[in-house]
Amino acid sequence: MNEVLRSILSSGFITTEDGKIRTLESAISPAEGDFLQEMIRSARPQVSLEVGCAYGVSSLYICEALREVNAAKHIVMDPYQHSVWEGIGLANLGRAGYLDIIDFHETASYEYLSRLSEEHVTIDFAFIDGSHVFDYVLVDFFLIDKLLRPGGIVILDDLSWPSVRSVCRYVLSNLRYQCIGPQSQELPERVALQNALSGVRQDGIGPLLRAPLHRIIAPAWRILMWRIGQLVSAPVRGIPGSRIATVPVVWTASGEE
Ligand SMILES: C[S@@+](CC[C@H](N)C(=O)[O-])C[C@H]1O[C@@H](n2cnc3c(N)ncnc32)[C@H](O)[C@@H]1O
Repeated sequence: MNEVLRSILSSGFITTEDGKIRTLESAISPAEGDFLQEMIRSARPQVSLEVGCAYGVSSLYICEALREVNAAKHIVMDPYQHSVWEGIGLANLGRAGYLDIIDFHETASYEYLSRLSEEHVTIDFAFIDGSHVFDYVLVDFFLIDKLLRPGGIVILDDLSWPSVRSVCRYVLSNLRYQCIGPQSQELPERVALQNALSGVRQDGIGPLLRAPLHRIIAPAWRILMWRIGQLVSAPVRGIPGSRIATVPVVWTASGEE
């Protein structure tokens, strides 16, 4: 592992350009970092893109794997890199020796992704971890979908956010992407349903009925809405076989080869 990343992970601290110490926050977990690297090693992207840099932890994971596959470029955008994150993400990428492949833009993703789209840029891989507000995530996905070459991969972080899950549901229902995640091929609601059913098969209906009501109603409601969403939204794109993947907190999607 890159020494800069290793020291951040082991200490839990990051350092500003002028040497001030800050506590690490808002970063992906090592498990997510490993998953990103695994995806990059298997997909071998030439051009990748990332929305949301913060202290640069996900970028460090991504760049480490990109180096191994001799990728040409990693485009990163974050409008708050200096105003909020004190330039530490970029500094970390410099300390780790990745600036030669970094194409950084201190711009909101919806602005810069639109520009890339105008310039007909194509990408092979994208990681979305910027604003987690529903419309921002949807717009990120929408614009990245325009840039993604067939067979490319998109990973969305933080599937635990309802807003991110809604985007994933929309993508699955309308854009015919497919799950390719190694840990779970399913939405959490479906996993909850499968767990409940296997519990019933093992222990009968008693324990399920004794569970607090909200633990039954909330997943049941989400499953119902997800199912209705699937039934009412006919696929709008005729490209068969696109893929989307999920692990508990990350979703990936890829276009058709
Ligand atoms: C959760 S943090 C990213 C963490 C980073 N991916 C990591 O694991 O180290 C979310 C980032 O999104 C950035 N962000 C917020 N709104 C954004 C936007 N409209 N476009 C791009 N980035 C945005 C924030 O400044 C913040 O750095």
